[in-house]
Amino acid sequence: MCYPARVLGRGLIIAIDGPTAAGKSTAGKALAARLGYTYIDSGAMYRTVGLAAIERGVSLDDSAALSTLAGEIEVRVGGDPHAPTISLDGRDVTTLIRTPVVDAASSKVSVVPGVRAAMVAQQQEMGRDGGVVMDGRDIGTHVFPNADLKVFLQADAPERARRRHAEHRERGADATLDATREAIEDRDRRDSSRATAPLRPADDAVIIDTTALSRDDLLGRLLELVHSRR
Ligand code: DC
Repeated sequence: MCYPARVLGRGLIIAIDGPTAAGKSTAGKALAARLGYTYIDSGAMYRTVGLAAIERGVSLDDSAALSTLAGEIEVRVGGDPHAPTISLDGRDVTTLIRTPVVDAASSKVSVVPGVRAAMVAQQQEMGRDGGVVMDGRDIGTHVFPNADLKVFLQADAPERARRRHAEHRERGADATLDATREAIEDRDRRDSSRATAPLRPADDAVIIDTTALSRDDLLGRLLELVHSRR
C-alpha cells in the first residue's frame, strides 16, 4: 500500500505538469526553493537522452536502439532549485541540452516506451521520500499518481512561443519567433498524441492558466495550494 506523503509526515510530493513553456520550471524552482524541497526537471532527463542519441549517432526513429541507449547511459540530476544540474555519464550537460535541436530530439525520444520506463524508474526513486517538486508531462498521471498536490499549468501558444523564443535568444540561438511557435506546436502534438503516458491533466490536478499571470502571483497561488494540503 502506498500512502500519500502527508499521512507519513514527510515532505510532500508535488507534481507540476503542462505543455512546453507553460511556466513549469520557473514555478517549480521557485516553489521548491521556498519550501526547501528538491526540484527535479524530468524533461531535462529526456533532453539528455536526446543529446546522447545525437552525439552517438543513434537514429531518433530507432526505438530499440534508443531503449538500449537509455539503459546504458548514466543520467544524474542535481536537485538544488537554485542551481539545478544534469549530467550525462559524469559530464555536466546542463547548458548543452537547451538548444532547438535537443528540444526536438527530446520530444522524439520521449515517445519510446523503453526510454520512458528507464526515466520513470529513476524519477520514482528520486521522489520516493517526498520533499520534492517534479515537473514534466506525466508526473501526476504516471510517475506519482499518488502525489499530494498535482498542478497542470497551461498558457496560450503565442505566449509560450514568446517565452521560449526569448530563452533561446538569451542563449544565443537564432530561431525566429514563427519557427519557435511551429516547433512548440509540433512538440505539443507529439507529446499529447503518443501512446505511452501522453500529456494530459490528471483528473485530480488543479489547472492554472499562466498566460496573464506574473511569476509572483503564480508562486502565491501554488503556496496557497501547498498550505491547503499540509
Ligand atoms: O519540459 P521539456 O520541454 O524540457 O521536455 C522535453 C521533452 O521531454 C518534451 O518534448 C516532452 C518530454 N517529456 C516527457 O515526455 N515527459 C516528461 N515527464 C517530461 C518531458
